Amino acid sequence: MKRNWLIGGLSMVVVLAGAAFVQGGGGGGAEGDGEVGQPIAFPHDKHAGSEAGQANMDCQFCHYSAERSVDAGIPPVSACWGCHQVIPGSEHPEEVAKIQEYVERGEPIPWVRIYKISDHAHFPHMRHVNAGLECQQCHGEVQTMGVLTEPDDAWGGANMGWCIDCHRDVEGTSAFEQASTDCAVCHY
Ligand code: HEC
Ligand code: HEC
Ligand code: HEC
Ligand code: HEC
Ligand code: HEC
Repeated sequence: MKRNWLIGGLSMVVVLAGAAFVQGGGGGGAEGDGEVGQPIAFPHDKHAGSEAGQANMDCQFCHYSAERSVDAGIPPVSACWGCHQVIPGSEHPEEVAKIQEYVERGEPIPWVRIYKISDHAHFPHMRHVNAGLECQQCHGEVQTMGVLTEPDDAWGGANMGWCIDCHRDVEGTSAFEQASTDCAVCHY
């Protein structure tokens, strides 16, 4: 009995900690530098969300090479400046102001990478995007997220089983013909 209470109490603590995290990291609350120390607290929801006051931009407007290249691509600072020389930011103008500093110094913004698999494995975005998979299937509902801090639960990229399960269409994870599970397509 006592043990059950203990377990119940612990899971409550975990739930509360989770809720606090969601509040801190989500909802457009571009807080400071974000928990991964991003150089600018870039809120995805304000750009890609479709609620009032959000810009409803297509993911591939910024991740411009997802359809034709291995990497999805991160927009250059000039792309940010195109809009932000006239949009100062209503809640966090100090974060927007940093864009101009990078433009003036002629430096790229040193974004901290969040999604990464080991160098011995190979992931081509274009094959997946052209097969009709949505970004959200692997990265979660990015258009509702504030500053990105850690991989979404939808992502299993540090684990080969995640890739293989979808390639084999285990439990209908993919609506496609089987994709290759030949070691050499992912490791070379
Ligand atoms: C206005 C440009 C812009 C739009 C639109 C945009 N992104 Fe991003 N995205 C960025 C920038 C800048 C970063 C790097 C900073 C960061 O990690 O938040 C990024 C980072 C990411 C990352 C993490 C990359 C890493 O570090 O591993 C993912 C995943 C991502 N975006 C997915 C999406 C998806 C899905 C959409 C559409 C729902 C989208 N993005 C729309 C600019 C954009
Ligand atoms: C197509 C136009 C467009 C582009 C391109 C764009 N943004 Fe934005 N951005 C917006 C709009 C619109 C908002 C919402 C403004 C607001 O709420 O005050 C916004 C909000 C922001 C905010 C939050 C401002 C606040 O006050 O909360 C930051 C930070 C930001 N953008 C950074 C960037 C960075 C960095 C890039 C380049 C990777 C970028 N933006 C590219 C249109 C754009
Ligand atoms: C089938 C799963 C899957 C889909 C679909 C997917 N991604 Fe990814 N994404 C990954 C994996 C795995 C990585 C890490 C790749 C690596 O480390 O080489 C990644 C990395 C990224 C990165 C960081 C590195 C880079 O490529 O620039 C961005 C940004 C990104 N994805 C955006 C997107 C966007 C935008 C879409 C939709 C157009 C998308 N992804 C669709 C699995 C996926
Ligand atoms: C949600 C489903 C899904 C996930 C998760 C997924 N893939 Fe795929 N992948 C596919 C589909 C579907 C194709 C086939 C595309 C085609 O036929 O062109 C594919 C194709 C590929 C190819 C090209 C295969 C060839 O025959 O040339 C490689 C390489 C690959 N995936 C690597 C990965 C890696 C590495 C991961 C994990 C980090 C991963 N994939 C995760 C669905 C997925
Ligand atoms: C669909 C893509 C894919 C295929 C097919 C694939 N792998 Fe992997 N493999 C991965 C990814 C992704 C990882 C994990 C990378 C990481 O740690 O970030 C991995 C990890 C590994 C590791 C390192 C140990 C581990 O589990 O992290 C070994 C060894 C390995 N693979 C061997 C193989 C062999 C042998 C085959 C063929 C029977 C194979 N792989 C087929 C994607 C694939």
